[in-house]
Amino acid sequence: MKRTAAAYAFLIIAAMIVSLLGAIHQAASARTLNQEDELVVRGAQLYDDWAAVLDQSPPSGNHPIWGRQEENTRSGPDTWRCVTCHGWDYQGVEGANRSGPNFTGFPGVFDTQSASAAEIAAALTGEDDPEHNFVPPLVEEDVEALAAFLQQGLIDDNQYIDLVSRQVIEGDRENGQRLYTEACASCHGEDGTALAFRYEGQNVSLGTLAVQEPWRFLHRTRYGTARASEMPAMVLDGWTPEEGRDVLLYAQSLPTGFPGEGEAPGQDGGREPFDERGGPSRGLFTGILTAIWAMVTSLGFAVLLGAVLIGIIFFVVWLIRGQQ
Ligand code: HEC
Ligand code: HEC
Repeated sequence: MKRTAAAYAFLIIAAMIVSLLGAIHQAASARTLNQEDELVVRGAQLYDDWAAVLDQSPPSGNHPIWGRQEENTRSGPDTWRCVTCHGWDYQGVEGANRSGPNFTGFPGVFDTQSASAAEIAAALTGEDDPEHNFVPPLVEEDVEALAAFLQQGLIDDNQYIDLVSRQVIEGDRENGQRLYTEACASCHGEDGTALAFRYEGQNVSLGTLAVQEPWRFLHRTRYGTARASEMPAMVLDGWTPEEGRDVLLYAQSLPTGFPGEGEAPGQDGGREPFDERGGPSRGLFTGILTAIWAMVTSLGFAVLLGAVLIGIIFFVVWLIRGQQ
């Protein structure tokens, strides 16, 4: 009788372990669905500059919708890019583009996270607004990639960046320095001046870009850029939004000029504070999955699991011996 009870106890515990391992394995394989991640990355790069991804030039002149606003004086190819109208923070007139040189008054796309692929396709093929038609030059697979990005890839970076000062609100600078040295310095240089970027008609260093355009910095660190295929998309290496933020925080302390040059021009002021938005949505979920995955792959987790198993075996032995 008592042996039977012990055997039952053992069975229940074993079942619990198996289901725990199953749950962990499932969560881990969600991270390894790399094909899906790659689709999101492609969508993000199309959002940044679809003409560069497709290696073609946008139609000549301004995008037809561009004429609905007058404040923004950009013209030509840039007016065809999703990011020019909807913003690096995906929040259009409600986010970083609410004022300053990037102002257009156009809405964001942040809420399309909850839209269906069909609804997004309707927006991009001109069904909703005939002037908002990007097919062609985009084809069906591009629309799918953009939908995947809009549904899964949008992160509210304004939880990390102060809209007035453009400084990272809080983060781990040391972690950022470590990550930068490991993953970025080989190409961008220890001080971020090895490569120059075009920003507002000037050549700027990575430090300047981090200070002036932190949202663009985060988007391109996460998803890379079709303008340079060497630039890795860190999301494919499993980076969390917080790791990107930490690197941005560190990069904001890098030199804002090039060796032997004067400092870059200062920031333009006049930005309004941005009221708090809802907390992290998808960012948190991705973060948890990444954390679990990191645990699963690390030796620490194996040691922990071993300890738990040994504990259970001791418990069962104790149970059986005690009841004999
Ligand atoms: C020239 C400016 C402009 C460009 C470029 C642009 N959009 Fe839009 N977009 C708008 C405006 C304005 C709206 C609001 C609805 C309308 O009038 O079409 C909109 C609406 C949308 C919507 C629907 C939002 C909702 O809440 O229903 C989506 C999705 C969208 N755009 C995605 C994109 C993507 C992806 C690209 C790049 C391929 C892009 N847009 C390029 C101006 C632009
Ligand atoms: C293998 C080389 C390589 C590595 C590693 C690399 N980058 Fe880049 N990165 C590039 C190149 C090349 C460009 C494009 C330069 C240009 O626009 O001319 C670029 C562009 C960028 C941009 C976009 C600049 C702009 O114009 O908006 C950012 C931001 C950036 N890198 C940040 C990083 C960060 C952060 C890391 C580390 C996580 C990193 N890069 C790692 C090569 C690299």
